[in-house]
Amino acid sequence: MKKRSVLAAAASLLLLASCGQPDPPYRLRADDAEAQALGRKVYTNHCASCHGARLEGQPNWRLRDAAGRLPAPPHDASGHTWHHPDEVLFRITKHGVAKAANLKDYDSAMPAYEGVLTDAEIVAVLSWIKSQWPADVRRQHDEVNAAAAARR
Ligand code: HEC
Repeated sequence: MKKRSVLAAAASLLLLASCGQPDPPYRLRADDAEAQALGRKVYTNHCASCHGARLEGQPNWRLRDAAGRLPAPPHDASGHTWHHPDEVLFRITKHGVAKAANLKDYDSAMPAYEGVLTDAEIVAVLSWIKSQWPADVRRQHDEVNAAAAARR
């Protein structure tokens, strides 16, 4: 290789490095109209029966039933969905609570959607859920994500 093309190659490598990492595949896109439209459909078809048509969750969602299972929590600002970073929400939806939290024997009524929904559909439904939160809760969730990224 000529000296000049070596320099050019080095420069383009530097350029690549300075662009940083691409967004991870689980990154929610609450401002993306396409993701919202798809997510709303997925929510109605797959999540609303438990988490409520208006994201309100099931009654007494903090109390375990006789079998020790929790009811479905709300996905609106009154729940704790927004306490979790994107990656955790994605993993809970794809793999279920036990796998996502690494609790082998944890018994949960939350289904795992791997093989039912594509990764894009999972990101879309979580993006739509986030798009329904008030601006201050969305901002707090952005901070949860930033804190999780800093720990990585
Ligand atoms: C059969 C009922 C049911 C359906 C359908 C369902 N969920 Fe759940 N979901 C639950 C229950 C119950 C929990 C609480 C699980 C636990 O902690 O044991 C839960 C918890 C969650 C959590 C964790 C929330 C938190 O604050 O910790 C997320 C995220 C979630 N569900 C997303 C979804 C999405 C997205 C869909 C649709 C694709 C969906 N769920 C469909 C029952 C359901």
